[in-house]
Amino acid sequence: MIEIGAYRDLYFAGVDRLWRRVFPDDPPHNRAEFAVPEKMRMQPDLFLVAVDRERVVGTVMAGYDGHRGWLYSVAVDPDVQRSGVGTRLVRAAEAQLVMLGCRKINLQIRDGNEAVTAFYARLGYAVEPRVSMGKRIAGPPA
Ligand SMILES: CC(C)(COP(=O)(O)OP(=O)(O)OC[C@H]1O[C@@H](n2cnc3c(N)ncnc32)[C@H](O)[C@@H]1OP(=O)(O)O)[C@@H](O)C(=O)NCCC(=O)NCCS
Repeated sequence: MIEIGAYRDLYFAGVDRLWRRVFPDDPPHNRAEFAVPEKMRMQPDLFLVAVDRERVVGTVMAGYDGHRGWLYSVAVDPDVQRSGVGTRLVRAAEAQLVMLGCRKINLQIRDGNEAVTAFYARLGYAVEPRVSMGKRIAGPPA
């Protein structure tokens, strides 16, 4: 029985294990040891986990900046993929964002991972013609 709920500290090791498994090529600044404490400082309720008898099997991190909502770290343990957990996580995050007044949700997919567009398309997301840019600010990883 997989439950979706808010992240709590006891899930840290499980989140770290899951992300290392499903995002093996992610840069160090995206690792749980940096990303989770930062998220706990900002809209912590928007970090959801899927848990199967205390084992973390999925995550989604969301944020609303007053203009757009964003989804990050959508991940499901390969052992339970294709059983609807990813769909439940995204829908739960969407519900939280909508409650905050959000009317548009964005997300990014890394180069080479375009296959997951099919997953998001089923949830109503469309590929939009945008160029994504980013700037790293000097300081500790974030
Ligand atoms: C993408 C991901 C979160 C999907 O989670 P999931 O729990 O397997 O998704 P669901 O079971 O809810 O899938 C719902 C539907 O989406 C589609 N879908 C899901 N994964 C897919 C994939 N890899 N390729 C194509 N379609 C996919 C299917 O239509 C699926 O329905 P079906 O199983 O009846 O065919 C999961 O594959 C994952 O963690 N991938 C690795 C991490 C990642 O790339 N995250 C996205 C970062 S942007």
